[in-house]
Amino acid sequence: MLHALKIFGFLKKDLQALEQYLEKFVDSKEGILKKGMEGTLLAGGKRIRSALFFISARNQNYDRQYLLPAAAAIEIIHTASLIHDDIIDRSELRRGQKTIHKIYDNDTAKYIGNYLFTHTFFLLNRYNRPCILKEMASAAEFLVKGEFDQLKKHKKRNQDEDYYFQMINEKTSSLFKASCALGGILSDSSQEDIQSLRRFGQLLGTAFQINDDLLDIGINRKKNLGKPIGNDIRQGNVTLPIIYALRDPWFRKSVHRLLGNTDMSEENIGLILDLVGRTDAVETTKKEFAQYLDQAHQLVGKINGKKRRGGLLSVLDYFQS
Ligand code: IPE
Ligand code: IPE
Ligand code: MG
Ligand code: MG
Repeated sequence: MLHALKIFGFLKKDLQALEQYLEKFVDSKEGILKKGMEGTLLAGGKRIRSALFFISARNQNYDRQYLLPAAAAIEIIHTASLIHDDIIDRSELRRGQKTIHKIYDNDTAKYIGNYLFTHTFFLLNRYNRPCILKEMASAAEFLVKGEFDQLKKHKKRNQDEDYYFQMINEKTSSLFKASCALGGILSDSSQEDIQSLRRFGQLLGTAFQINDDLLDIGINRKKNLGKPIGNDIRQGNVTLPIIYALRDPWFRKSVHRLLGNTDMSEENIGLILDLVGRTDAVETTKKEFAQYLDQAHQLVGKINGKKRRGGLLSVLDYFQS
């Protein structure tokens, strides 16, 4: 069963139709391109962004067939960003499978990622509405900028919260934002609703990345679906729990020589994870996460449409559970 259906049972028909759409797209390819897409695009992502898109589109005259190319475009660009992100993060596991750059090499992974990036705009162009392209182009631009900003601060211990929030806003929230906005636009919603949906996506995207950073340090393991633990530390990405832990002089002193090392042993990664757990960083990070979810919750009441509000609330429930 699609993992997404465990979370979004109420979107069963939409998500199954999306899966078929993506399978058909992959089937039309051949060789390494096809194999690479099978091991990424079809390897069972949670489909959270496309689910948000379908929910945001639950306005009047819901037309699944009309929405499918945009839903596919969202998952395709997301997968492209993951393929590139895994090269940068030297990650070996994605969606429970060996990453493309590990199976083949970096160049092959880059081409597959680029192919997917490009195809996104090909699909969206079908709507013949410049605002759709603009929304996604802006998300793509911010996503890449956020990833680049992260790379620039790679292994730099003195990072502040503001920089972190700006970076995750760009690398992660941008696509959440666009997914919600596209749903609003393609269901002919009012400008006010589109704006509220965009803001909802931004808040949820921020909470989502904070949660992902907690998953990486081994918190809430059952929700970590097929990604390595400790990879942010392994690669020198200073995430929110680490920023908070570094405020503790004892932690700072203990890890002084370790953080920022080029070749971190698995033993030292385990040690850092253990030391983070002895500070109040996890609690502080969880509070921050909850605060973003609360803000998103408050916004739901402003959005028109009972089905839409119900759907958004179930997404929040999933994250709060
Ligand atoms: C992973 O996104 C990238 C982040 C922004 C943290 P997801 O956790 O949604 O990945 P999939 O699509 O379910 O694999
Ligand atoms: C999110 O950051 C990556 C993108 C927005 C592309 P991460 O590097 O934390 O994502 P994971 O943990 O590898 O999925
Ligand atoms: Mg990564
Ligand atoms: Mg991560």
